[in-house]
Amino acid sequence: MTYQPSQESLSKLTPVLTKRWLSPDAWKIDVYERLDGYTALRKAFKAHPDDLIQLVKDSGLRGRGGAGFPTGMKWGFIPQNDGKPHYLVVNADEGEPGTCKDLPLMMADPHALVEGVIIASYAIRANFAAIYIRGEAVHAARRLRAAVEQAYAKGYLGKNILGSGFDLDLVVHSGAGAYICGEETALLDSLEGYRGQPRLRPPFPATHGLYASPTVVNNVETIASVPYIVLGGSAWFRSMGTEKSPGPKIYSISGRVNQPGQFECGLGVTLRQLIDLAGGMKPGHKLKFWTPGGSSTPMLTDEHLDTPMDFEGMAGVGTMLGTTAVQVFSDQDDIVYATYRWIAFYHHESCGKCTPCREGNYWMVRILHRILAGQGTHQDLDTLLDACENLLGRSFCALGDGATSPVTSSIKYFKQDYLDYIEGRKAPMFHGELVGAH
Ligand SMILES: Cc1cc2nc3c(=O)[nH]c(=O)nc-3n(C[C@H](O)[C@H](O)[C@H](O)COP(=O)(O)O)c2cc1C
Ligand code: SF4
Repeated sequence: MTYQPSQESLSKLTPVLTKRWLSPDAWKIDVYERLDGYTALRKAFKAHPDDLIQLVKDSGLRGRGGAGFPTGMKWGFIPQNDGKPHYLVVNADEGEPGTCKDLPLMMADPHALVEGVIIASYAIRANFAAIYIRGEAVHAARRLRAAVEQAYAKGYLGKNILGSGFDLDLVVHSGAGAYICGEETALLDSLEGYRGQPRLRPPFPATHGLYASPTVVNNVETIASVPYIVLGGSAWFRSMGTEKSPGPKIYSISGRVNQPGQFECGLGVTLRQLIDLAGGMKPGHKLKFWTPGGSSTPMLTDEHLDTPMDFEGMAGVGTMLGTTAVQVFSDQDDIVYATYRWIAFYHHESCGKCTPCREGNYWMVRILHRILAGQGTHQDLDTLLDACENLLGRSFCALGDGATSPVTSSIKYFKQDYLDYIEGRKAPMFHGELVGAH
């Protein structure tokens, strides 16, 4: 029998950014135009740029790249009449483990992003914009480049767009596949041709960003939301989600569910509803632990099935909404091994600029391996927590902070699973010491 989600869960679906995803060929400009594409841009050009910034402020849109910073406020930080060039940079690096929302958006509906880029650039008075896409996503980069070419051919990019007097050039820049290049200042360094490592802040990108000029860096989903806000208005946008976390959000759900994928719901949907929308748990699997927004957000348990998944709800239970990359693990998954794999990732991706992250992850991955090899001690758990204390708030960028999340939250909720390895109740997963990187 096919699984049927409850009416309550189905009522949480709010297809806005995903509404064109199932329309055949929606990525082609003619189809996009037929489906209302580029009408928001025409409307935007009739408004003063400052009014567009105010509209985005009023909508309450918060950045979809992880931190949830208010987008209109970020745009408002760009100094005007400063005589400097302004830049818009779209963060399409999507490196947070478990996150899969920006790539499907760019594949299915690239013009929504291009249209959002043009409107956002007009609002902040930028005449050059770049989309920084992770290097492995060759398919999405090709699709975006084709969309950009089509937009130039139809006069949506280039000089005097639609007779508005506004000029914009847009390039799609492929990175080389480093997680740290998703961090906005490392991204800017990489875009300038340097090795991608975070910059010291302040000064912030709003005044000293790309080529030391005022720059807005926004996530793909953030920018793709803009045309809908222009068309629908701020009150319509606020009719979805919650008061402090308004709007729709693409949740990507993976792991032990029957139908992993992207589900767009108003902010504040619960995990119980998302699992229901994803066809329920796989047969024979019981929920054990999950991440609300990628591995950098502390994991939760089945106690939190009904907690609203908005910025406030997740902060209230000691975690973060992050990228809404919901990774679902069951009683058949080993939490110590999952934590080891995540720390191996952070160790591999640490850019090495600061000592707490470079050394902390090096040692944490070794200790976790030792525990999994049946050679761990009770002291190892204290050492892991001590390492986290020296990483959190002491790292140069949020990669180091994020690396502590899997360790501290797994020990908080599932210490017994560690003790099972340490006290010999569980057979070792590895033999011998960790040699090499991880
Ligand atoms: C290690 C690290 C990786 C990140 N990766 C991404 C990413 O892939 N995409 C993204 O949009 N933001 C990423 N961020 C967050 C960005 O620094 C920045 O906050 C975001 O692009 C701002 O856009 P928003 O305001 O639209 O959310 C990352 C941050 C860190 C510390
Ligand atoms: S926290 Fe890690 S990734 Fe960030 S600067 Fe330090 S070494 Fe590099």
